[in-house]
Amino acid sequence: MRKPIIIANWKMYKTRAEAAAFCQAFLPLIRQQDQADVVICAPFTQLDVLAAELAGSGVGVGAQNFYPLPEGAFTGEVSLPMLQEIGVQYVIIGHSERREIFHEDGALVRQKVQAAYAAGLQPILCVGEHLEQRNNGLTVSVCSGQMLSAIEGLNEAQLKTLIVAYEPIWAIGTGRTATAADAEQVIGALRQAMAETYGQAVADQVRFQYGGSVKPENIAELMAQPDIDGALVGGASLKPDSFSQLVLFQKQQ
Ligand code: PGA
Repeated sequence: MRKPIIIANWKMYKTRAEAAAFCQAFLPLIRQQDQADVVICAPFTQLDVLAAELAGSGVGVGAQNFYPLPEGAFTGEVSLPMLQEIGVQYVIIGHSERREIFHEDGALVRQKVQAAYAAGLQPILCVGEHLEQRNNGLTVSVCSGQMLSAIEGLNEAQLKTLIVAYEPIWAIGTGRTATAADAEQVIGALRQAMAETYGQAVADQVRFQYGGSVKPENIAELMAQPDIDGALVGGASLKPDSFSQLVLFQKQQ
């Protein structure tokens, strides 16, 4: 059984004080829940605050970016050992905002996935198609191409712990969610591609999330799909109330 995993992606929101206030309001709302793993991915300046506020709660801390070398002359970048030192366990890799706005290509995404595993951090690998690609019937080939290229060279043990977030670009921050059936169809195809390349035993363990305008009103239907194991959530993760409702989703029968 794959345990559901609900991940907040705060993007470039919140100060340190706001992050601390979030945790103080959020933790009591999810106390004793055990149905899902929960992670908050935040800007660098908040990560030590989150590590302290969330210590002992079971909620993990994730970064949204890093540079895949341990140190060096890379002005403005942050390395994995620096993140680990302050208690970070997860890293988002290949988010469409990084691919599009910051021009991160497939080779850098793959290098980051390798570096994260080598350092012992858990990657959350994002893949997703543009609306035009969807309209041209390219969704599965684009997303499986991104996924398979990013995970080249990983061993079986690493692959089994992988988290892949399918995030159609046209659904991010737009209020337009893929229907649960559409999301299931793509994620089912990604799991199939994983099975064909690495075997069913690996494919059965990988946790696939859907991301793109997930909110309390649509989480249950998404989570009821057989291949959807979680959600990567931007906007609706910023308020303790709505993020706690996502974590406490009710599985539909
Ligand atoms: P959204 O963002 O939930 O605000 O659409 C999702 C994401 O980009 O991870």
